[in-house]
Amino acid sequence: MKSLEHLLAPIRINSLEIPNRVVMAPMATVFGNMDSTVSEANLAYMKRRAQGGAGLIFTEAVEVHPLGSAAPQCLAIWDDSFISGLSRLAGVVHAEGGKIALQLHHTGRENVLLQMQNKAVGPSAVPSHVFGFLGAPREMTLEEIQETIAAFGSAAMRAKEAGFDMVELHGAHGYLLMEFLSAHSNIRTDQYGGADIRARSRFIIECIEEVRRRVGKDYPVSIRISGDEGIKGGYTIDDMVTVVPSFVMAGIDVVHVSFGTYANPKITIDEPSGCAPVEYPSGFKAHLARRIKAVVNVPVISVGRYTDPFAMDEVIARGDADMITVGRQHLADPDFLKNAREGHPEDTLECLACNQGCIERLALEQMPIRCAINPQTGQELIYPDGPAAKSQTVWVIGGGPGGLTAAYEAARLGHKVTLFEREKETGGNVNYAAKAPYKGVYGKFIRTLTGKCIKRGVTIETGTEVTEAMIEAGQPDVVILAIGAGKTACPAEGVDSAVVCDAWQILDGEVAPRDHVVVIGGGLVGMETADFLREKNVQDITVVEMLDSSPVQTAAAHGFMLHRRLRAEGVKLMFGTTVKRIEEGAVTVTKGGEDIKLEPVSQVIIAIGVTSRNDLKDMLQRKGIRHFVIGDAATPRRIIEATTEGAKAAWDI
Ligand SMILES: Cc1cc2nc3c(=O)[nH]c(=O)nc-3n(C[C@H](O)[C@H](O)[C@H](O)COP(=O)(O)OP(=O)(O)OC[C@H]3O[C@@H](n4cnc5c(N)ncnc54)[C@H](O)[C@@H]3O)c2cc1C
Ligand SMILES: Cc1cc2nc3c(=O)[nH]c(=O)nc-3n(C[C@H](O)[C@H](O)[C@H](O)COP(=O)(O)O)c2cc1C
Repeated sequence: MKSLEHLLAPIRINSLEIPNRVVMAPMATVFGNMDSTVSEANLAYMKRRAQGGAGLIFTEAVEVHPLGSAAPQCLAIWDDSFISGLSRLAGVVHAEGGKIALQLHHTGRENVLLQMQNKAVGPSAVPSHVFGFLGAPREMTLEEIQETIAAFGSAAMRAKEAGFDMVELHGAHGYLLMEFLSAHSNIRTDQYGGADIRARSRFIIECIEEVRRRVGKDYPVSIRISGDEGIKGGYTIDDMVTVVPSFVMAGIDVVHVSFGTYANPKITIDEPSGCAPVEYPSGFKAHLARRIKAVVNVPVISVGRYTDPFAMDEVIARGDADMITVGRQHLADPDFLKNAREGHPEDTLECLACNQGCIERLALEQMPIRCAINPQTGQELIYPDGPAAKSQTVWVIGGGPGGLTAAYEAARLGHKVTLFEREKETGGNVNYAAKAPYKGVYGKFIRTLTGKCIKRGVTIETGTEVTEAMIEAGQPDVVILAIGAGKTACPAEGVDSAVVCDAWQILDGEVAPRDHVVVIGGGLVGMETADFLREKNVQDITVVEMLDSSPVQTAAAHGFMLHRRLRAEGVKLMFGTTVKRIEEGAVTVTKGGEDIKLEPVSQVIIAIGVTSRNDLKDMLQRKGIRHFVIGDAATPRRIIEATTEGAKAAWDI
């Protein structure tokens, strides 16, 4: 029986009454001003999140010391000049009826900018697994340790003064506090180090004591921990249960149990840190919260891939945790709780856990956050509330993610929208993406967005290929061309052979897979097709890729899992390899100037990419019909570009 009873029950943390058990995760945005003060973008983003109705909202990590600041646009609280801006941030959440906690942070050694300037500090001069190529951090002196403890205390005091309802010490994910806790990064021999985790917890305990001393006994103080380090030789939950009670003794009112470390060395990764990819199910780390709950008498929070409020309710009902932190779902659709409470959960766009717009955009592209499926996220300041000044007749041609987003946004702004899709169903290439292992949620995204379009009044005409004649006859005011991209032809000799098919035919079941298969193309489509075959138990799979390294980045969480899974199950990945000839039972490839004959081969699957469709573009231009070309129809890329451009076109009508 689906219930929200436990999730919607109020809870008290020290003196703070919180109306429900949903917590918005601390999430760095990089929206701040260049002097680390709160920007208008921070305020607009936070206001939209607070409108979702989570009982408690966390700020992103806010830096307590200049030597712990990840980037100039990360928010800071290391002196009084930051108080007024932060106070406005607290104010926007309070205005929506929410409660807000500020997360106190110091990056320690996980700091690329300071590492580049040779200024990064840590408990010991042990290089970061991530930024170690830039050198080792400097070991903090005892004076610096005292200064940092004092900085946490002063920052907490400023947060209280700015009107925040709670502070949290960020002791998770491999940053400074956790660096002291971990034997991987703390090899000190003084009172802040030691072989035992209890000895290494001294720094955290002194930080907590100082924060408590400064804010007084009634003010709520949280600590975020990683319940396990998730790497070989890292600490485990068995270690953590021995130290967390002493955190509570030192003044902690709530324990926020995350997992993993930023410092995951790729070769020994066991578990994801923080932002788990789609491979991991909802609540997959709830057992860590349960273990902590057994040893403390304060509320405990669980986090990890939660998207569905009813599933969150179950976690609380069975006693694993008292509250649930929701991160990326707040970016994908901040109304998930409201929709469930109001009885229309089917309107919620579920987070794809793709990390494309959020953590990986931030970490790999050094760009402020967005969301692959929610174009409002990160663009709150330019997001038009509507309605448009003049309602126009809009034709959206193509029902992939780009076309659907354009149609939804245009209808939301009051235009009369018809979306045409050539196939029987909307979805475009995402329907194929959804066939890959673990990616069923991609199909749900299309179904939900299609349903939302219909509710918004979009007329959807499937099975309709739009032609020049139709546009001429229909005379729309505006056309949004979202026709995607077609399969690129493979130039290899023998490509007409009966054993050759393409990835799309395999993924949608048109062609049955066979053993002894060569997939041509090691981009996402080729790799996911190989994964699909692996799941179907196909034997002897080789992926051949022309580029010297895989276009699927292993630095991205899903890419890492995909590579690891394929290799672990014996899929051969050949990079720097070109297909020369396909013949009866064999494929000849060239690698490093040498020909290699792969055999036996009974199936060849082409996955060498897509080329933008030019249909209709010239005609729209020629006839002077106002139009926008978006998504893969402009240049083949990803879902995030398709949805971003689709929304932008609708906003610009
Ligand atoms: C197997 C696979 C896995 C992928 N995985 C990912 C992933 O994990 N993450 C990611 O970001 N991207 C992924 N992609 C890429 C992603 O699917 C595309 O970038 C995205 O779908 C592009 O969206 P779009 O709306 O521009 O075009 P499309 O999704 O291609 O949609 C275009 C639509 O237009 C229709 N159409 C064409 N001509 C006409 C016409 N004349 N009249 C009416 N309709 C027409 C087509 O039938 C199609 O439905 C994957 C792609 C594939 C094939
Ligand atoms: C863009 C982004 C930024 C993040 N920044 C922080 C942060 O500042 N502090 C923190 O403790 N965790 C941070 N995290 C981790 C989240 O708080 C959360 O633990 C993680 O997203 C997993 O929850 P989810 O599966 O619900 O998304 C960040 C996550 C994302 C996606």
